[in-house]
Amino acid sequence: MFGRIDHIGIAVEDLDAALALYEGRFAMAQSYREVVEEQGVEAVLLDLGENHVELLRPLGEETPVGRFLARKGPGIHHVAYQVPDIDAALAALQEAGMRTIDERPRIGIRGSRVAFLHPAATGAVLTELVEPAGAHDEPRR
Ligand code: CO
Repeated sequence: MFGRIDHIGIAVEDLDAALALYEGRFAMAQSYREVVEEQGVEAVLLDLGENHVELLRPLGEETPVGRFLARKGPGIHHVAYQVPDIDAALAALQEAGMRTIDERPRIGIRGSRVAFLHPAATGAVLTELVEPAGAHDEPRR
């Protein structure tokens, strides 16, 4: 069902300070920066081979990442797995009785479609499914 790890999501209070570490010190290339209003975050994607690190700064305290920071402080927020067909993957998990945060996929960073599973169903690891933009446009083999 899952392809590979798409990204690790990291909650930060200060994007510039985080970029000084990941881009400056770790020399990861920043590939994308976007305010995703729907998720209440400003997000930066850094490239690491085919995978990414996703830095997340909340747009306010009353957002999911804002509440996470208030509760736990900065750190690893979620793990995201790539799926070729998020509708099928989400439906299969829901049919198997898995609790999800999103009933259906929503728009994520860089035109992707994403859905979160509930941490109560995943051993407290917030888990995201990602169907990259254009996944359906690629030739099927
Ligand atoms: Co993510």
